[in-house]
Amino acid sequence: MSIFKRQPLLAHLREQLVVNWWGHHGIAHWARVRANGLMLARHSGANVHVVELFAFFHDARRLNEGRDEGHGARGAVLAKQLKGTYFHATDDEMDRLEYACVHHSAGMTQADQTVLTCWDADRLDLGRVGITPKAKYLGTEAARTEACMAKANQRVLAWRNAYSARRGRAL
Ligand SMILES: [Fe+2]
Ligand SMILES: [Fe+2]
Repeated sequence: MSIFKRQPLLAHLREQLVVNWWGHHGIAHWARVRANGLMLARHSGANVHVVELFAFFHDARRLNEGRDEGHGARGAVLAKQLKGTYFHATDDEMDRLEYACVHHSAGMTQADQTVLTCWDADRLDLGRVGITPKAKYLGTEAARTEACMAKANQRVLAWRNAYSARRGRAL
């Protein structure tokens, strides 16, 4: 299955986004979660379509940058509403996407490889708020390897430096 209208999907998500598009939970985070997820999927065997949709939807319905209970569930609802307009997905893919979105901030480490890959892709981006992801909180074997952790960290630190420079202060 595929995202057949990628730019319009991102434009729609941007239009409805309440938090800062360029901030900690905006497009740069989504892009890194996507890159992390596709990197992990090469080893974990995750469904890459679900991983990509997760990257775009899991934080798309945040109402604030802090503790926001239910934002994952709201992202999953939005994905259901937009299916067929911007992307196709099987029922199985939608089930996995919903599960991954709903529970992504619950600290769980047990699920199927696709869901775990989504969660790890998000957790590997914690460096943006100065948190180094701990191996024990990662669900896939791939995410716990030094190579994947280093790659994800390198990705997020490059953004963090650019972001703090733009804001003219250290984060
Ligand atoms: Fe989130
Ligand atoms: Fe996230």
